[in-house]
Amino acid sequence: MTQPLHAFHCRCRAPYEVEQHFVGRLIKCGWCGVFVVVPRRAGEPVHVPTFARTTDRLEIDLAVRRDWRQVHEIDRDPENYGFEISSPNTPRETRRRIRAGRFPSGFKKSGRLVFKVVLKETGKVIGLVPVGYVLPYYSVNLGVVIHHPHAGKGYGREAVAAVTAILFEELGVFKINAMCDSLNLRCVNLLESVGFEREGEARSWFLHPTRGWINSPYFAMFNPADAAIRAGRLAVPGEGGIP
Ligand SMILES: CC(C)(COP(=O)(O)OP(=O)(O)OC[C@H]1O[C@@H](n2cnc3c(N)ncnc32)[C@H](O)[C@@H]1OP(=O)(O)O)[C@@H](O)C(=O)NCCC(=O)NCCS
Repeated sequence: MTQPLHAFHCRCRAPYEVEQHFVGRLIKCGWCGVFVVVPRRAGEPVHVPTFARTTDRLEIDLAVRRDWRQVHEIDRDPENYGFEISSPNTPRETRRRIRAGRFPSGFKKSGRLVFKVVLKETGKVIGLVPVGYVLPYYSVNLGVVIHHPHAGKGYGREAVAAVTAILFEELGVFKINAMCDSLNLRCVNLLESVGFEREGEARSWFLHPTRGWINSPYFAMFNPADAAIRAGRLAVPGEGGIP
């Protein structure tokens, strides 16, 4: 049985009729080229996503070119890589990473975003929350690093909670995935305290340069707004099709 189509207009007035699984999701308008989120109810305007959020102690936003030196302070410090399989970045790699995560220019090609975590008190970047779509534009992988002098003060938890809210509320992401070293208890606790659920554990998933093969728990969180779809119902209840 085919599902009814969902009709809406882009803000450039281009008309769309999409399948139900696009409802609430990010799409790129083929007419004006702008990324918009498909409205969940007929007649509502499309949503143009924004990325900035403020928490009690932090400001979260996308990293931009002028942030590269502060981002590189974090990227290049081996002390932030205790549980990582990658090695510290060169300045060129940091700049490339920021460029790839610029919205919409870099994002169009890479499907990646790099959120910076700024401490309000000092105005300095103290961490990063990189996000990459694995299934455009439904499902993302999320990572997090808080520069070691600021670790253990709850900033990681605050930042991941804020980015999770942006991904769900602004970008309509269906599912957020996160993996980490099974021995990285701080990261495991962080993810669980934000609301991620452990879906399983991948054995010998990462190859660490000194510790060898590492098991990795697999965490995920679903968008609460998609509860109906997960229960097997239509994204728009009672939608009777295109008149
Ligand atoms: C892992 C990391 C992001 C955590 O960020 P953080 O700001 O240090 O973590 P928080 O202070 O928010 O603490 C997160 C949770 O871990 C708990 N925690 C803190 N220190 C801990 C420790 N030594 N052992 C176990 N749990 C600990 C906290 O109690 C908190 O749980 P709660 O919210 O239930 O109280 C950060 O330490 C980091 O960047 N480490 C290096 C990079 C890394 O490992 N990234 C993860 C790769 S996916």
